[in-house]
Amino acid sequence: CGIVGIVGQQPVSDRLVDALKRLEYRGYDSAGVATIVEGALHRRRAEGKLVNLETRLKDEPLGGNIGIGHTRWATHGASTERNAHPHFTDGVAVVHNGIIENFTELKDELTAAGAEFQTDTDTEVVAHLLARHRREGMRRREAMAAMLKRVRGAYALAIIFEDDPSTIMAARNGPPLAIGHGDGEMFLGSDAIALAPFTNEITYLIDGDWAVIGKTGAHIFDFDGQPVERPRQTSTAAAALADKGNHRHFMEKEIYEQPEVISHALGHHINIIENRADMVSGIDFARIPSLAISACGTAYLAGLVGKYWFERYARLTVEIDVASEFRYREIPLSPQSAALFISQSGETADTLASLRYCKDLGLKVGAIVNTCESTIAREADAVFPILAGPEIGVASTKAFTCQLAVLAALAIGAARARRTVTEDEAQALVSSLAEVPRVMGQVLDSIQPEIELLSRELSKCRHVLYLGRGTSFPLAMEGALKLKEISYIHAEGYAAGELKHGPIALIDENMPVIVIAPHDRFFDKTASNMQEVAARGGRIILITDERGATASKLDTMHTIVLPVVDEIIAPMIFSLPIQLLAYHTALFMGTDVDQPRNLAKSVTVE
Ligand code: G6P
Repeated sequence: CGIVGIVGQQPVSDRLVDALKRLEYRGYDSAGVATIVEGALHRRRAEGKLVNLETRLKDEPLGGNIGIGHTRWATHGASTERNAHPHFTDGVAVVHNGIIENFTELKDELTAAGAEFQTDTDTEVVAHLLARHRREGMRRREAMAAMLKRVRGAYALAIIFEDDPSTIMAARNGPPLAIGHGDGEMFLGSDAIALAPFTNEITYLIDGDWAVIGKTGAHIFDFDGQPVERPRQTSTAAAALADKGNHRHFMEKEIYEQPEVISHALGHHINIIENRADMVSGIDFARIPSLAISACGTAYLAGLVGKYWFERYARLTVEIDVASEFRYREIPLSPQSAALFISQSGETADTLASLRYCKDLGLKVGAIVNTCESTIAREADAVFPILAGPEIGVASTKAFTCQLAVLAALAIGAARARRTVTEDEAQALVSSLAEVPRVMGQVLDSIQPEIELLSRELSKCRHVLYLGRGTSFPLAMEGALKLKEISYIHAEGYAAGELKHGPIALIDENMPVIVIAPHDRFFDKTASNMQEVAARGGRIILITDERGATASKLDTMHTIVLPVVDEIIAPMIFSLPIQLLAYHTALFMGTDVDQPRNLAKSVTVE
C-alpha cells in the first residue's frame, strides 16, 4: 500500500524504513526493502508490522546507496513473507501498488516460455516481463516501455536493475507516486508525507507517466515514451506533519482537532457561498436539473447526509450510491446535471472511476477532497477542499465532519442560487454553521468521562445496533462503521422506522441499541421506535439534546445529552459522541486503533 525509493550518496536502508513508517497509516500487512550492494540485489522482507522488518534488518543489516521499499496490503496471495515485495527475477527488483488485471494471461504466457514464479502475486509478472525483455537484448528503458505496453490495470511501480546501481525506474497508472528532489539524491514515495524528512520539493507523476530517476534528477515520459515535463511543487506535508501531540493515537488527536479544522473548512466555503463566484464557475447549481453524489466508506455516509440537505434546502433531487455500484448501475443521468465525488485521499479507485464515468457522460463534476494534489481533485471541474489537514488514523473522523461542513455550505449555496430559500433563511443557516466550532469545543470538553464509562459496557458486547431518522440515519450507519472498524464489534446502522421490519428480531438484553435523536422534526417518531425496543427488553443508549432528554420518558441504560443546536448542524455535533464511543471501546478491546486489521487508509484498487 506504500512505495518508497532512494537513489543517493549514503546508505539507504534505514531511511527507506523511516519513509515506510510514514506510510504506515495507509494500512499494510507485510513489508520489505531491496538495495544493490556491489552489483547484486539484496532484500529483507517480513510479515506483519514494520517492527518485524526492523528486527530483521538489525540482525542482517543491508548496505547500498540505492533502494526501494514497500508496505503491502494483500490482494493476490496471502500476507506471507514469500509474497511480500520487493520481488526479484533475474536481476530485476519490483515493488508495486495496485492490481495487474491481466496477470493470469501474462503469467500463463511467461510460464509457457519457461518462467518460474516464486509467489502468488500479480506483481511478479512485471519482474518476469522486464527480465525477459532484457534477455531479448533490450536496454533498460526499452524494457520498461515494452513492459508497460503489456500490463493492464492499476499500478504504481518502483524498479531497480542489478546492473544499474544509480537509477530507479517508476511508473504510475492509478495509485499516486511522488518524486522528491534532494541535493545529489532523489526520492520516490506514494505521497509527500513519506518524503517529508528528506525534501519538500515534489513532482507528482500523472497516470500513464513513467520515470527514470538518477541521483541528480528525473526524466519523465508519457505512455508513448515521449519526454514530458511535470511541475515541481513545494509540498506543505512537512509543516502539517504527523505527530500525536499529547494524544495516545492519531485518531484521538484528529477527533479533538475538529473544532479547529472545521473552522477552516467553513471559513473557506462560507466565503464561497457569500460571493458565489467559484461555485458558479465550477457548477451552476441554479440550472442543474439534479445532482449525483458518489463516494466510498465514511465519505459515502457524508454524502448521504448531504443528500438530505440538497433535497430539503435546494430542492435538488440527489442520486447517490457507493462508488463501486454507482458506475455500473447505468443510471439515466442527464448531461446537464452535475455530480459530486467525496474522498479524503482523492485517490480511491472506485470513486475515481465513477468520476470519470460521469465526465464521459458530459456531467460537470465537483470533488470534495482533503488532498488537493490528488487525482480526483485534478480531474474534477470544480474542487471543494475540506481543509482537514493530514488524516492519519485509518478510521476517518475529522475528514467526515469537514466533508459535512463543506456539503452543508454547498447545499446552502445551491439553495440560494436556486432561490429555494429566502435570503433571511440562508443567513440563518449560515449563522448556524458558524456555530459548529464553538459547540464542538464545548462538547469535547465535557463528554469524555461518561463516554469512557459507556465504552466499558460496549466493549463487553458482541453486537450493537445504531438507529436514527433523517440525517441521523446516515449518522447511525457511520456510528456502526466506526465501531466495527476499530473495535471489531459487529454493529449495524438502521433507519429507526425500519427497525420493525427485521432487526427488531435481534433485540434482547445483550444487544445495546444506540439511538441518535436530537429533538428535531423526527423526535416523536424515533421515541416510539425506542418504546418498541424497550418493550422487548432492549437496552437503550440515547444520544440526544437537552430538549430531547426532557421529552423522553424512557428508562435508558444511559442518555448522552448534547446542547440544543439547529437541525442543519446536528450531524456534525452528534458525530462527536459516536466517534469517541468507538475510540474508547477500541481502547478497552486493546485493538490497534490507528491501523485496524485488514483496513487501508486509501484504497487504490477496485
Ligand atoms: C477506506 C478507508 C475509509 C474511507 C474510504 C474512502 O476504506 O478505510 O475510512 O472512508 O476508504 O476513502 P476516501 O479517501 O475516498 O475518503
